[in-house]
Amino acid sequence: MAHKNQEHKIPTHVAIIMDGNGRWAQQRGKERPEGHIAGVEAVRRALKAAVAEGVKYLTLYTFSTENWGRPKEEVDGIMELFCRSVVAETPELKAQGVRARIMGDRRGFSEKVNHYIDRIESETAEGERITLIFAMNYSSRHELTETFRTLAKRISEGSLVSEDITTELISNSLYSREYPDPDLIIRTGGEYRLSNFLLWQAAYSELYFTPTLWPDFNHESFREALEAYAGRNRRFGLVEEPTK
Ligand code: FPP
Repeated sequence: MAHKNQEHKIPTHVAIIMDGNGRWAQQRGKERPEGHIAGVEAVRRALKAAVAEGVKYLTLYTFSTENWGRPKEEVDGIMELFCRSVVAETPELKAQGVRARIMGDRRGFSEKVNHYIDRIESETAEGERITLIFAMNYSSRHELTETFRTLAKRISEGSLVSEDITTELISNSLYSREYPDPDLIIRTGGEYRLSNFLLWQAAYSELYFTPTLWPDFNHESFREALEAYAGRNRRFGLVEEPTK
């Protein structure tokens, strides 16, 4: 509906907090890992939808720094699912022009997981259609803390003075430095919070919440979020809609 008119309102960068895998499984009398397996299917659908709608960056909150506190079997299961998905999906990602990146603190991962991270990033490096960013071992406060530590180190080494610290320098020092700020952040699963996700980058993001559990998320759900976004009036703190 009114799709053509809204073309200029397609968000460049959509970020998603994929919530509800556990509840989806529970509702079906299954174990939580089954929800994550179904979650991978939803990742596939969301990526396809993003490509079809012309989105250029899709960031998925896949594993937060807090998620290490979940039962070991669940954590191991998600890591294993990631490794297996890399093997299974890389050919299709390449064929679709997807450049996959991982954003987060890589020191937290096992050697094996880091191997698969390197593998998916290097094999898809030429993708030009969309950048798919998996936020893994990511949390915003951790990212900011690491960034401030790096900048402080540069000051103590003499390569930076405190007056050089600007919002731009901070943006350009975050894990997300290569990517534009998200225009739209979607959270599934019915909760209304950001849960330590892209707090700095979300300064002017539009937020969209849906009760849909992540494994049920599909192209239609994605389109509904884009339609809500197209109806928003983004002012960036100004009084009129910017002309950009
Ligand atoms: C939230 O559901 C989901 C996660 C913490 C993990 C996200 C993981 C996937 C979508 C699958 C793995 C994907 C890849 C690409 C390897 P939840 O478990 O917090 O659900 P709940 O709130 O219902 O318990």
